[in-house]
Amino acid sequence: MKAPVNRAERNARIAIAIMAAGKGTRLKSKHPKVLHEVGGKPLLAHVIAAAEQVVPPRDIWVIVGHEAEKVRESVQQTGVQFVLQEPQRGTGHALMCAAPALAKYEQVIVLSGDAPLITAETIAALRDFHLQKKAGMTILSARLEDPTGYGRVIRDGGDVKMVVEEKSATPAQKKIREINSGFYAFSAKALLGNIERLKTDNPHGEYYLTDMAAALRKAKQRVAVVQTSNPSEILGSNTRAELVDLDRKMRQEKCRQLMAEGVTIFYPDTCMIDWDVQVGADTTIEPFVQLLGKTRIGSDCRIRSYSVIQNSRVADEVLIKPGCVLDEAVVANAAILGPYSHLRPGSEIGEGAHVGNFVETKKIRLGKKSKANHLTYLGDAEIGDGVNIGAGTITCNYDGVHKHKTIIEDGVFVGSDATLVAPVTVGKGAYIAAASCITEDVPADSLALGRAKQVVKEGWATAKRANK
Ligand code: UD1
Ligand code: MG
Repeated sequence: MKAPVNRAERNARIAIAIMAAGKGTRLKSKHPKVLHEVGGKPLLAHVIAAAEQVVPPRDIWVIVGHEAEKVRESVQQTGVQFVLQEPQRGTGHALMCAAPALAKYEQVIVLSGDAPLITAETIAALRDFHLQKKAGMTILSARLEDPTGYGRVIRDGGDVKMVVEEKSATPAQKKIREINSGFYAFSAKALLGNIERLKTDNPHGEYYLTDMAAALRKAKQRVAVVQTSNPSEILGSNTRAELVDLDRKMRQEKCRQLMAEGVTIFYPDTCMIDWDVQVGADTTIEPFVQLLGKTRIGSDCRIRSYSVIQNSRVADEVLIKPGCVLDEAVVANAAILGPYSHLRPGSEIGEGAHVGNFVETKKIRLGKKSKANHLTYLGDAEIGDGVNIGAGTITCNYDGVHKHKTIIEDGVFVGSDATLVAPVTVGKGAYIAAASCITEDVPADSLALGRAKQVVKEGWATAKRANK
């Protein structure tokens, strides 16, 4: 099923309703089902992303109910609209609650908020098939090896006679492998004019949207069915096991896409790459790497094993050695990080800079070609270009109440084991002697010593041993 995705004017009278009000009892969770994540973002956000490519957000109606406020908050920046289903009495009832909002449209496409693999192409193909058949209802179906748990499509010739839910199916009906995807297209008139016919005489005592098939047949409306060629797109996530399975499928697909774009990923099954992550061509990702959230990695980078990078921007030709953790960090071209660097939010690492073993940074700018290679904490600091930060250096940024800033200008050499008590400025080209505690500003091109003078007592050890 391939059809062009078209947001042209003919869509003006088409709405997409996304059912997202259910509790998700089978997940055994206190959080609403549609906010559970696969590929690093909520189920519902994936469905909205696909829907948005078919109709504008103002024509997308998300039906919320269980934890409605939380669900609304998590996706409202997309500009979609909401209707409230309270209480939640089944998928048919969800559409009853949406009826007033949908009355102004000619066609309504209905999607499930818990089936995140759906694509815009499939939604558009469902729409086109439905319009072409001039049907009252068109069901998107799929043939599954194991149809357990899904509603079965009972055909009558080419069209649909009814949909039977697993719990009500006879042993013969359970053998049918063509299942209801939970995605439908309706003529708004057929849907809204007949929805009151739904009853709750089923094992759950709910209004089933699936019963619209039989109801519309009775009302002499055509109920068509179109089978998807890609059954994995319609998989739902009703249980933890299904959720994890979908997550794996989505990440496998993500890795396949990145590899098609020129990224090398060794042992992709060991990597966790979120759906919205971008990676440039000729970058190599080693086993057991996690790239999360809105992370963007440039080209020609190498991300070595056990690094976890979240919501960060990494430019080109960057080498990230094993075991680095980056969170909301920005790294410029040709920088080298790790092993075991921890870049916390607000860290900006300059071009060709080095951040090494057990170095923690937070809210800092490290200039071009500057180096902080060993056992260091740099927080709330402006560090210029060509600066050398010796091993064990610490910016003391916190006085117990407030955070203060350390400024280290271009070309400064900070000796090992220095503590810089902020607020403090070290001027351009200055030297800080090793083990100094710097509490006052250091002028440019000077040497600052802030430590006790060394005392040597010759023969002291020999005398001590003799006294034993
Ligand atoms: C539904 C279909 C089933 C189909 C399957 C595909 C019905 C009766 N059955 O079953 O035929 O094979 O999807 O995945 O529709 N929801 C509401 N309000 C409610 C109840 C549910 O908005 O009162 C939402 C849920 O949040 C969910 C979606 O509707 O996003 C589907 O509900 P769910 O309980 O998952 O239905 P299934 O049992 O999967
Ligand atoms: Mg479901």
